[in-house]
Amino acid sequence: MAPACAACWLGAAIILFTLWKIAKRCGSPKWNPTSSVVITGASSGIGSELAKLYSKRGARLLLTGRNSERLEAVAAECAKVANALTEIHTCRGDLTEPIDRKELAEQARKYFGAVDMLILNAGISMDNLFSDTAGDMALFRSLMETNFFACVGCAKEFEQLLKAHRGSKIVVVSSMSGLLPVYRRTGYSASKHAVHGFFDSLRLEWSPWDIKVTIACPGFVDTPIRETAVREGRAVELRSPEKHLVSAASCARDIALAVDQNQVHAIFSLRDRLAGWCFLLPGLGSVVRWGIARKFRAQIESDLKGRL
Ligand SMILES: NC(=O)c1ccc[n+]([C@@H]2O[C@H](COP(=O)([O-])OP(=O)(O)OC[C@H]3O[C@@H](n4cnc5c(N)ncnc54)[C@H](OP(=O)(O)O)[C@@H]3O)[C@@H](O)[C@H]2O)c1
Repeated sequence: MAPACAACWLGAAIILFTLWKIAKRCGSPKWNPTSSVVITGASSGIGSELAKLYSKRGARLLLTGRNSERLEAVAAECAKVANALTEIHTCRGDLTEPIDRKELAEQARKYFGAVDMLILNAGISMDNLFSDTAGDMALFRSLMETNFFACVGCAKEFEQLLKAHRGSKIVVVSSMSGLLPVYRRTGYSASKHAVHGFFDSLRLEWSPWDIKVTIACPGFVDTPIRETAVREGRAVELRSPEKHLVSAASCARDIALAVDQNQVHAIFSLRDRLAGWCFLLPGLGSVVRWGIARKFRAQIESDLKGRL
């Protein structure tokens, strides 16, 4: 095939792909008002914005988090933007505790009977060099407990409520760290990788019940997660490599749209998509790794002072 002809085909394919994406974005969202939606980690950040968004849409909501004061404040904000169909319930709980996960599912059963959408958003981050962590692995265990086992435990408790009718959804708020390496976040990245392996496999197992699983992979979002990150050893200055973080509200809108479209893996910026796709490819993967190392260069250099 002549190069000019190949270029024409490629150009046409790109235009068609772009038009298809635009049409998908503009298409009417698949949303039933009064859907029952359970949101974990609703007391802050992305979870609180998702709560407000689904409140506006008229969902029957069950919100959970550990901090009841903040949870109630979010519920009050949801009530301000709610429509006539909206219902808002809260249930305080620490999802690393099996008894609290059971109680959350009990509350959902009591209020809704069945669950249309379970949003597993609660999570914590870290900000530590691996070399500064203790040998008892406590930091890594706490990340896995919250980011991985709590999600798996919730899936277990909600299994019957989700399978009660066809087309229920699980939305897992993972991260680009579930696909790519992130500096000073070995344990966080590992916990999110684990989430991908588990929920990609669960999608397969629960497909006979038509349960859709969307794994959302935001990049850096402006929330308090960096302040609450677990850390050990040397005191560190918390930094994000991004100058401009995406707002939690915008991230919540992106996630909701991806869920409406039943996206399997939702990645929100073109740069993140390219990096995610290319990371495992021979050759291109090293370009992505170089880009990531460049992004964190200032932090790496300052961490290395006095260590080499
Ligand atoms: N911010 C980012 O840059 C970013 C990027 C990609 C992905 N994410 C992911 O997005 C999700 C939400 O994070 P965020 O940025 O919105 O952080 P955030 O503002 O700190 O919110 C975290 C939420 O998780 C809850 N939570 C933490 N541990 C919990 C536990 N043991 N039991 C129950 N709830 C617990 C917190 O509730 P309480 O405070 O009430 O305990 C809070 O509501 C996380 O899974 C995170 O990994 C964040």
